[in-house]
Formats: sequence, structure tokens, C-alpha cells
Amino acid sequence: MKDLISMAIETSCDETSIAVLKNGREVMANLISSQIEIHKRFGGVVPEVASRLHLESINNILEQALKESGTSFKDLDFVSCTKGPGLIGALLVGVSAAKALSYSLNISLVGVNHMQGHICANYITHKELEPPFISLVVSGGHTYLIEVLGYDQYNILGRTKDDAAGESFDKIGRAMGLSYPGGPQIDRLAKKGNPEAVDFPRVMMDSKDYDFSFSGLKTAVLNYINQQRQKDIDLNIEDICASFQAAVMDVLVEKSFRLTKEKGYTTLAVSGGVAANSELKKRMEERGRKENIQIYFPEPILCTDNGAMIGCAGYYDFINGKREDLDMRVDPNLEL
Ligand code: KG4
Ligand code: ZN
Repeated sequence: MKDLISMAIETSCDETSIAVLKNGREVMANLISSQIEIHKRFGGVVPEVASRLHLESINNILEQALKESGTSFKDLDFVSCTKGPGLIGALLVGVSAAKALSYSLNISLVGVNHMQGHICANYITHKELEPPFISLVVSGGHTYLIEVLGYDQYNILGRTKDDAAGESFDKIGRAMGLSYPGGPQIDRLAKKGNPEAVDFPRVMMDSKDYDFSFSGLKTAVLNYINQQRQKDIDLNIEDICASFQAAVMDVLVEKSFRLTKEKGYTTLAVSGGVAANSELKKRMEERGRKENIQIYFPEPILCTDNGAMIGCAGYYDFINGKREDLDMRVDPNLEL
């Protein structure tokens, strides 16, 4: 069968990313331009700024992606882009670029769900991985436990009732005066702290369902920080980071393993921005060894938002016959 070469565009939040892929799982180029340094000034992503920055950099990234992959426009068989969930103005930039390519090159357009992209990141790193399996997706905006039944068939079995896991890292980070995003910083500082220093709640750890809640934990950490400040006690940032992170990871690990075993699976794949967390990876792998469950994580560059994961998801949508017309709309609240 002829190789399928595709371009994939991701602009759902604060990374402008364009990838070129061969047959969905082979990455020929994956350019990522992060806007983090600019959003840091504001303590979080400013949607209007994000849209403008996507617009400024997208053509340059596109040219670089073609150059790095050694391809030209005429080699492209189809184009994928993130159509949601995400920031509406940011999404529009990527979707408009993808439509322009589809129209001018006369190639098919595939609109990809960003969360499906996160799940597919593991297919790129692990060529042997195929459905079915259980997937934990932990990003800045979502926390899902999913039964992946096929490449485009998902059964969501658990989700957060309030804050996403990544969001809780970012909010706690901000309260402690760390720069945005809090996740990587807390990960780094926690390595020097004592995870048992403060006993933060493991919210919903023992509930019978597979749902999560992180806002109660966030409030507990914020209260603790305020109490310490009122008593004029210097904050031990490293201990707070380690104790907070342990509380998040205990719940994520426990519920993921319980679901995997209850459903009779032996494969658990973790992805999304928080999958870059070193403690999460360590704990998942340790428990996996003990319980004979095969654990998959994408390589770090594929945990964060990137075009390659969108291209992989788009490939499976494409070979399953999914196409979009040029009147495709973005959907900021798109469900899986
Ligand atoms: O998947 P992602 O790049 O964007 C969304 O789709 O939301 O995830 C970004 C999130 C942020 O909340 C960030 O703080 C978190 O991933 N994150 C981490 C780490 N690296 C990124 N959280 C914990 N530990 C990390 N090492
Ligand atoms: Zn994401």
C-alpha cells in the first residue's frame, strides 16, 4: 500500500505545533513553538494573546515542518487539525490554516479531537501498542479514565468533577508564587521535599466510581498556605510540593489500577501534560511491575501539546473514512 503522508496542526492552547507524519505513527517532523514565556508574565494563558501569537508564528512553523521533513506541499495526502476542545480563537487559527491547505492543495481535511490526540501520543512512542487498553489522560484542562476499544472508539468511565489534575498543579503553583505553568516546577521542587510532611486529603480515592475531584485538595493546600502565613511561619515550599503531588498521584494511580483490573485489562497507557510528571511515571511503573500490568507513557515531548499526536489521531480517523467539509466549525467544548 502507498505511504500516506499527512500534515497536522495543533493550536488549541499555548503551543503552535505542526507535524508531518508517514502512515500516522512515523514522525517526519514535529515543530513546537511554545508561548509559555509570554503567558508567564500574566500568570496563565491569556486567550486573546494566544490567538495572536498562533497567527504570527504559524506560517513560519509550517515552512520549517516541510523543510525538516524533506517534503513539499505536493507530497501531502491529507491534512489534520485540532477542532476542539480548546480556546476558540486559538483553535480558529489552526483550523483556518488546515482549511486553506485542504482547499488549495485539493486534499482531504480531518478535524481531530485534542483528547484523542493525547491518547494517540502513545502509539507514536510505542509501535507495538494497539487497542484495547485503559487510558489515563491527565492534561491542563481534562482528567479522563477511558476504555480505548478501538482507534476511534472510546468509552469514558471516569472524569474530574471539577478541576483537572494539571489545573490543580498550576493553581497551587501560582499560590506559592511559582511561575506558570506550575506542573513542571512542582515536579522539580517535590524531589527535594518530604511527601509525608503535610497530610493533604486524597479526595474520592475510595469512592466506588472512577471519577476524580481536585478542587477540595486545592482548597486544603491553599488553606494550609494561608494558615502558615498568618502564623508568620516560613513556607517549606519543597515539602508542600511533595505532599500535594503525593496526594494527586495516590488518587490517580489507585483509580487507574482499580479500573484496569476490574475491566480485566493488562495494559494501562498514561498521557497528557501531567504524564511528564516524574513521580507519576515512577509510581505507575512500580505498581505495574507488582501487579503485572504493562504501563505506557509517551516520550516527554509527546506529553505536552504537539502536532504529531494530532496527526496520529487524524490518520486513524482518515483511514476510517472521516472527512470534514470546508465549513467545519471549531468546538471549544468538544467531547470525546
Ligand atoms: O496536555 P497539556 O500540554 O495541555 C492541555 O491540553 O491542557 O497539559 C498542560 C498541563 C499543565 O497544567 C502543566 O502544569 C501540566 O500539564 N504539566 C505537569 C508537568 N508538566 C506539565 N504537571 C505535573 N508535572 C509535570 N512535570
Ligand atoms: Zn493538551
